[in-house]
Formats: sequence, structure tokens, C-alpha cells
Amino acid sequence: MVNYKDLGLVNTREMFKRAVAGGYAIPAFNFNTMEQMQAIVMAAVETKSPVIMQVSKGARNYANATILRYMAEGAVAYAKELGCAHPEIVLHLDHGDSFELCKDCIDMGFSSVMIDGSHLPYEENVALAKKVVEYAHQFDVTVEAELGVLAGVEDEVSAAESHYTKPEEVIDFATRTGCDSLAISIGTSHGAHKFTPEQCTLVNGVLVPPPLAFDILHEIEKKLPGFPIVLHGSSSVPMDEVNTINQYGGKLEAAIGIPEEQLREASKSAVCKINIDSDSRLAMTAAIRKHLAEHPGDFDPRQYLKPARENMKKMYIHKIVNVLGSDGKLAE
Ligand code: G3H
Ligand code: 13P
Ligand code: ZN
Repeated sequence: MVNYKDLGLVNTREMFKRAVAGGYAIPAFNFNTMEQMQAIVMAAVETKSPVIMQVSKGARNYANATILRYMAEGAVAYAKELGCAHPEIVLHLDHGDSFELCKDCIDMGFSSVMIDGSHLPYEENVALAKKVVEYAHQFDVTVEAELGVLAGVEDEVSAAESHYTKPEEVIDFATRTGCDSLAISIGTSHGAHKFTPEQCTLVNGVLVPPPLAFDILHEIEKKLPGFPIVLHGSSSVPMDEVNTINQYGGKLEAAIGIPEEQLREASKSAVCKINIDSDSRLAMTAAIRKHLAEHPGDFDPRQYLKPARENMKKMYIHKIVNVLGSDGKLAE
């Protein structure tokens, strides 16, 4: 049993309280590789931002759970080495699908877990989230739960169609589960293909997707004033990265994300955690494809992973400063 506090990590409680009050959101970036971890830490340190580093079940399968835990511990040490005396780094389980997985992460040093029972019947979702909260809170680990189902398909996270969160359920759910934050469904979805072109409107040659359901978000805020709300599926799928990928041999068709202005607007509300994974994948792939196309003789992974890391860092800084507004928001 390892407690996250001994690893220099923090839970989400204080940073969410400040983010809701301050009208900004904390970035939650997924990581599977050392380069992603380094880029996240460099970006958070340079911008003086708290940051959530999150690990999915798929990431645990890819990289090994123990290695990722040590990487998070290393992230704290690295942030200090880069000059940040008191980094605020959360190690969070993304889309935990069972009590056992959440318990395993808590026992190995995670400071926050998500229990995603959103696909379950309501009462089963409540019971599962409550069980995880009861275990997690013994160790001061914070818990994110989810109500409503996001559309979209990813390796381990799939839901064929979305169901918006019902505002009339949120008070009962938050009260009975005791969860610390609530992920809601208001029109975002996972992956790089969030909307079909048919769902979008063509404005000046750009496909603009339908707006997020801000009316539902505001209703939820009224029911749960000041309660931390989480948005999953919040990559904006930048066209320049998609174009670079396609220019250098990729084949990403009809990739459409959430416009950043809408995420900026959401950040000013009770939305205090915004999940971004696909944009990091796009930034990494675009840089690697470009490098290898321009330097066909290169075969040392450092030659193409270095620009990939730089490109991800640039993207993380952009999100923190221009979209979420968490720059300069460290406690000390
Ligand atoms: O929400 C899902 C995250 O993007 C993680 O994706 O399960 O493919 O690691 P993954
Ligand atoms: P994106 O696929 O939009 O990056 O969403 C990531 C996410 O929600 C992780 O939980
Ligand atoms: Zn998600």
C-alpha cells in the first residue's frame, strides 16, 4: 500500500475549489509514454499550472501500471528539477470500470480515480460509485463519477450513442454517492471524429459542429452550485495537425473536434476539469510523420520523438494558457 502523499502528488479537492471560484479549468491530459509525461510536466511548469496526469485502463495495459505510477512519481521530481518548488500534480485513473481497478490504483499511489458507471442503470451506477467513494475517502483520494453517456468510440471507451445528463438526477446522484466531481454529457465525445460532416454547418469553408448543450450545463450548475463538473471528450482536433498527418501519408478523414471557444466558455463555469487525449495523439503523430518524411534516413527514435515531444508541449501550453486559463494558478 502506497499513499500518494508520500509520492508528492495531490488530490483534486483544493485545486477544483479554486478553479470553480476562479472561473478556469484544470487540464487533464492522458499519458502512455515518457515523452507525453515529459511534455505535460514541462508545460505545467512553464505555465505555473496545476495539472492532472491521467491513466486509462488501456494505458495500464500498454505501459504497465507500475511503470506509469513510477513515471508520475518521477513527474513530481522532474517538475521540481525544472524549478517548480511546489508542483500540484494529480495522478488520476481515467474511466475506471470496476471497484477492483479503482482500489488497485488507490493502493498503488493514485491520488484520484474515476469510476465510470455511466453505462449502468441509474441505481447500479449510484451503488458502484458509492462503494468506490467509501474506499477512496479513507485515504483522502478524490473520486470522479459520471452521469449521462458520451457518444464516440475509443479503444477501451465506447458508447454508440450519447445520452445527455439529466439535470433532475444530479442532486440525488452527488448526495448519495458522495463523489467529489461529476462528469457530464452535454455533447462532447471521445476520439478525433466527434461529429459527422452532415451534423456540421459549413462556415467560410470550415465545418462547424453543433454547439454544446450549455443550457443543460447551466441547469446542472443551478442544482449543484459550486460543485466540480468535468468534461470528457474535449479535444478540439486542430486542422493544422490533421492536415500535416494527411500531407505526410496519413489518412484521417472527417476529423472534427470541439471548437476551443466553447471549451473556453465552459471553463469559466463550474466545469473545472477538461479531458484532452486525442489532441496529444494528433500532435505526436503529425510531428513524427513530418520528421520521417523529411528525414528518411533517420532511424534513432530520439530524432523523431524529440520534435513530437516539442509539438505536444506546445499544444499543452496553448490549452493551458489560451483555452482553460489555468496558467499562474499554482497554490504558492
Ligand atoms: O477517454 C479515453 C481516453 O482517451 C483514453 O483512451 O482507452 O485508448 O487509452 P484509451
Ligand atoms: P478526447 O478523445 O476528446 O481527447 O477525450 C479524452 C478523454 O475524455 C479522456 O477521458
Ligand atoms: Zn473520457
